[in-house]
Amino acid sequence: MALPVSAAASALIARGLALGGSASRTFPVFNPANGVHVADVADGTADDMRAAIAKAKSAFPAWSTRTAKERGAILRRWHGLVVENADALAEILTLEQGKPLAEARGEILFGANFIEWFAEEAKRVYGDIVPAHAPDKRCLVLKQPVGVVGAITPWNFPSGMITRKVAPALAAGCTIVVKPAEDTPLSALALAVLAADAGLPENVMTVVTAARAAEVAGVLTASPDVRKLSFTGSTRVGKLLMRACADTVKKLSLELGGNAPFIVFDDADLDAAVAGAMATKFRNAGQTCVSANRIYVQSGVMEAFARKYAEAVRALNVGDGFETGTQIGPLINAAAVEKVDGLVQDAIGKGAAAVLGGGRHERGGNFYAPTILTGVRPEMEIAHAEIFGPVAPLTPFETETEVVARANDTPYGLAAYFWSRDVGRVFRVAEALEYGMVGANEVLTSNEGAPFGGIKESGIGREGSRYGIEDFIEIKYLALGGIAAAA
Ligand code: SIN
Repeated sequence: MALPVSAAASALIARGLALGGSASRTFPVFNPANGVHVADVADGTADDMRAAIAKAKSAFPAWSTRTAKERGAILRRWHGLVVENADALAEILTLEQGKPLAEARGEILFGANFIEWFAEEAKRVYGDIVPAHAPDKRCLVLKQPVGVVGAITPWNFPSGMITRKVAPALAAGCTIVVKPAEDTPLSALALAVLAADAGLPENVMTVVTAARAAEVAGVLTASPDVRKLSFTGSTRVGKLLMRACADTVKKLSLELGGNAPFIVFDDADLDAAVAGAMATKFRNAGQTCVSANRIYVQSGVMEAFARKYAEAVRALNVGDGFETGTQIGPLINAAAVEKVDGLVQDAIGKGAAAVLGGGRHERGGNFYAPTILTGVRPEMEIAHAEIFGPVAPLTPFETETEVVARANDTPYGLAAYFWSRDVGRVFRVAEALEYGMVGANEVLTSNEGAPFGGIKESGIGREGSRYGIEDFIEIKYLALGGIAAAA
């Protein structure tokens, strides 16, 4: 069956597959909207990963000693090519991931912003001169790239999560080996093609595609030559990787799971809160780690909020991401549908009510019906699990103290949102929420200039912003002595 993409996208896919190499084994990539086979991708082995690390190591001296201006210029060219090819890249993304085409294009431009940002930041990695403790000494603080970086990236943002790691690594002077999610390797390969076109020297960024994720990631974590691992994915896998990195004491950036509370106080602008709840719950069919996972509504406005929210959710258009007007695409695969449905049926079985949806979508396959649940209680799995699907559980609350305590009662600490027009409450609640990111009357928090990341079991480190490059840098103290007084 012909793929529903332009000649430009097909050409980029073909070039990406060629760049991915000719491994003796391949694995298939499918369109999650219809199960159609899209491509066969090189199934990298442990040896392929070892070879990629060795090449990244050999490329490091030349890349890290280029001037920041030179590295920034290459990144700027890469940014330009990503923007120029945004339509083709978006098609590739929708083809392998399923999100609506307009949303995919948004992700491509969002990802490109990180390349541009870090092209500029490359020149701002300043060291320090510390006041010395003796007249004949000087204390200097040098900032140097950590070395070879390993990146393991997820399927929910197959482009944006790569540029958010690769761009600061390259800007800092590191070389990098990327292992993209096996569901979505084509976006990663296409980005690598454009990076090469931009003049990125060979082996500075290598993509190793592999279906046997644990085996190949095990090489990355065990290698003493890899000095840092950056991972976005589940908390469960993040903990495994953290343990695996202990033997070589690697630097770690972990962007892990979330359990975002979304709180609507009775003084909120309800229409704005409904719009926010739509955006954060249904973007990418709810498959983001910052999606609202628990929606708490103060009891005085619950009825009005639930009615307006249900109206908006009922109007959502579920379909193939390539169809005009689609707002919700499929989930990534059958296992994801199984997991989401398991949570919903557990909740319904324990007394929750499905105001809307409550099961698989009539289109079948990987489509799940946008769902609103009421009557969600703590004994239900959905009250604690990261849903990662288009399911919104609504729970009433009475007081600010109560809701803040419930919002914080989780091992996760990634993103939290709340809606209130009371400026005192805005400060009180923002300060009391134990999260790395808080949206007050706002849900679209993620952008290249802002620090993205979590606390508690949601992760370590920050991506984007001026802080995002620091995780790719080592601090070296240079003590200079023997500065004798002039004769
Ligand atoms: C995610 O990692 O799931 C969220 C990405 C973002 O919103 O920036």
